[in-house]
Amino acid sequence: MLQKIQETTKFIQGKTKYSPKIGIILGTGLGGLVNDIENQEVIEYKDIPNFPVSTVKGHHGRLIFGTLGGKEVLAMQGRFHFYEGYEMQLLAIPIRVMKFLGIEQLIVSNAAGGMNPDFKVGDIMFINDHINLMSNNPLMGPNDDEIGPRFPDMGEPYDHTTLALAKEIAAGLNIPVHEGVYAAVTGPTFETPAEYRFIRIIGADAVGMSTVPEVIVARHAGMKCFALSVITDLGGMDEVVPVSHEEVIEAANKSEPLMTAIIKGLLAKL
Ligand code: HPA
Repeated sequence: MLQKIQETTKFIQGKTKYSPKIGIILGTGLGGLVNDIENQEVIEYKDIPNFPVSTVKGHHGRLIFGTLGGKEVLAMQGRFHFYEGYEMQLLAIPIRVMKFLGIEQLIVSNAAGGMNPDFKVGDIMFINDHINLMSNNPLMGPNDDEIGPRFPDMGEPYDHTTLALAKEIAAGLNIPVHEGVYAAVTGPTFETPAEYRFIRIIGADAVGMSTVPEVIVARHAGMKCFALSVITDLGGMDEVVPVSHEEVIEAANKSEPLMTAIIKGLLAKL
């Protein structure tokens, strides 16, 4: 693993003049941020040795270097989901490469189903903790001590200082946000009513199919994480409204300008 990461890192370093400390995974809700990145240098995943390539039709797969909110950033446009059939260990590669490229802070977004009764479709939730229900972990297998410890601490998966700063930024922009626990499931099925109830009872406010593998890999490597969800559908205790991928996309698109405004504001202050 280590040798592959080093090889990939070297390849990318040879293609860019940037040395960003902030990495962004442009998940649902942050896709539009790509248009705001200035002086872009783009590398296609398919040209990067050892990099996974997205299986989802119409999904971009590109690394984008540039500046955003006055900061150098490295953005991943196109992410990998466990439900696509990748090994968890493969999902780790881009995050580890980010670490070796010098990224210290990871910003991630996603779409999630809301279970907290205070949530409405279109709301934004800052993730303050997570529950991994994927029955898998990207760190399974031999550990590379040069990347991180065998048994990494998970006491602060989402950096408290960044979270406090993001709350300040959102308040300053008059954008209401929630804060809560994100449960990660494999998908690709959405939850049954009993599953939504179960996930709520064990302490989650929202549920989705991404983010947690990346955050685990990032924390293992000592990177700070900030993550936010756009609530695209609701799975309540009493009522579960049928959900489709189209509705998820529509709800996410509506909230995207607010999410991007928060992230741009945050970057300026990091
Ligand atoms: N469940 C799981 N993943 C999701 C959901 C959901 O309700 N909404 C968006 N991603």
